[in-house]
Amino acid sequence: MTKNELLETTAYLKSKGFEAPEVGIVLGTGLGKLVDEIENPIVAHYNHIPFFPLATVEFHSGKLIYGEIEGKKVVVMQGRFHLYEGYDFIDITYPIRAMHELGIKKLLISNAAGSINLDYKKGDLMLLEDHINLQGGSPLAFKGVSEFGERFVDMSQPYDVDMRNTIINTAKQENISLQKGVYVSVVGPQLETKAEYRYLKIIGADAVGMSTVPEVIVANHLKLPVAAISVITDEGDPDNLEPVDINEIIRIAGEAEPKMITLFKKLIKQL
Ligand code: HPA
Repeated sequence: MTKNELLETTAYLKSKGFEAPEVGIVLGTGLGKLVDEIENPIVAHYNHIPFFPLATVEFHSGKLIYGEIEGKKVVVMQGRFHLYEGYDFIDITYPIRAMHELGIKKLLISNAAGSINLDYKKGDLMLLEDHINLQGGSPLAFKGVSEFGERFVDMSQPYDVDMRNTIINTAKQENISLQKGVYVSVVGPQLETKAEYRYLKIIGADAVGMSTVPEVIVANHLKLPVAAISVITDEGDPDNLEPVDINEIIRIAGEAEPKMITLFKKLIKQL
């Protein structure tokens, strides 16, 4: 990744009309319907955007969509890139850098996750308060990182406090129950063993997933305020572990999706 590549990416997007978006949004597995709320949409397929990685996983449609939600200019990633698809840390976070280069001032992230904290049930939403990176690498470990920001990025408060408070208040007003907790990222794509679920609980995680953390690290690198919400799609109870089915994960995500859409829309309105 070079600055010139990023500029070529954004020049292409601007030529399509992606002008001055205020908010960037990443939609997780089974959580693509927010795009139906975008007014005056302009669509760019990932495989047409210069220097974007290519989308591979079939249930991601792989599009960047620009338009308006609640009167705010947004750019939405429908489908993200994962390490388990064979991409590296630089690839999977490239779209975050591109959206930042386009001018976004805030970033909202969603994902599907399994619960480690067994008070958190399928279909619950969990606001991320902190995270643990178990993906064995960093999106900032590359030559020339200082061209893009400082190398030793503070992570004492990775999730923006103001956005979190707005989300918490909105959830109360809308009667949406909202859990809060620590998200741990793993590479996947295999799910966790019983022993791994036990371990993740011991180290302090409330939910586990295969994304988000690299994007949040890069947002912090760019000093871009970020908030993230998990939809709990399965429960990682080591003493009672049921086989996890990806179609079931997608189905549960879809069922909980309207709550997430409400929270995101109300938050965007208040940003
Ligand atoms: N583990 C890891 N990733 C996941 C899970 C899980 O249980 N559920 C959804 N994504």
